[in-house]
Amino acid sequence: MTAFSRPGDCRETPVQRMVKTYTTPMSNGFLGYDSSLMLDVVVSALVLVVPVIIYSLYLVKIRKNFALHAAIQTTLSVVLLIVVVAFEVDMRMHGGWQNIVNKNPDAPRLVGEALAQVRTMLLVHLVFAVSTPLIWTTTLVLAWRRFANPPQPGSHSRLHKTLGWISTIDLVLTSVTGLAFYYVAFMR
Ligand code: HEM
Repeated sequence: MTAFSRPGDCRETPVQRMVKTYTTPMSNGFLGYDSSLMLDVVVSALVLVVPVIIYSLYLVKIRKNFALHAAIQTTLSVVLLIVVVAFEVDMRMHGGWQNIVNKNPDAPRLVGEALAQVRTMLLVHLVFAVSTPLIWTTTLVLAWRRFANPPQPGSHSRLHKTLGWISTIDLVLTSVTGLAFYYVAFMR
């Protein structure tokens, strides 16, 4: 029994889980679930990205601060690229997502229907996670090339607004489905 549990308690409290995470050597992530460090970094990035984009859109739509909007979107793109590359390397090093979900092959955490659900959620997530970088990069590169410097509305505005909104919605759906994957894989 630990300082955090009462007699008869067999479930970990969130506090116990956090303490275990930070005190166990080779702990898996920092969110307190049995995932991986990079998976936790990506999940956190997916959550943080949403308010940043909302702020960037507020800047461009309401404040008409085109230069800051461009700078935020460009910085966000670089940060996301670094996180995604690090995540992909980490995934390869683990030998795939199933080895993170089921770290001990002799006592797998998820099997059968539960594992099938996680796989389905991952496939749905991949639809958005694959299309987003493609449309996002197109939006970014065209904006760099076709807007003036410093950026101002112009002949590229119409196409940029369409691409910009599609990119934004795609990224938000990547985020929502990524969190849903994390939930079914590690939090239930
Ligand atoms: C992938 C990154 C980007 C996304 C997702 C994005 C998204 C958007 C969206 C959704 C709007 C329309 C807001 C509205 O409805 O009024 C917009 C407007 C604008 N963006 Fe971006 N943007 C990105 C990168 C950039 C970059 C790099 C520049 C400049 C080099 C830029 C310059 C502008 C300008 C000037 C407008 C105003 C257009 C107008 O109102 O006529 N954007 N952006």
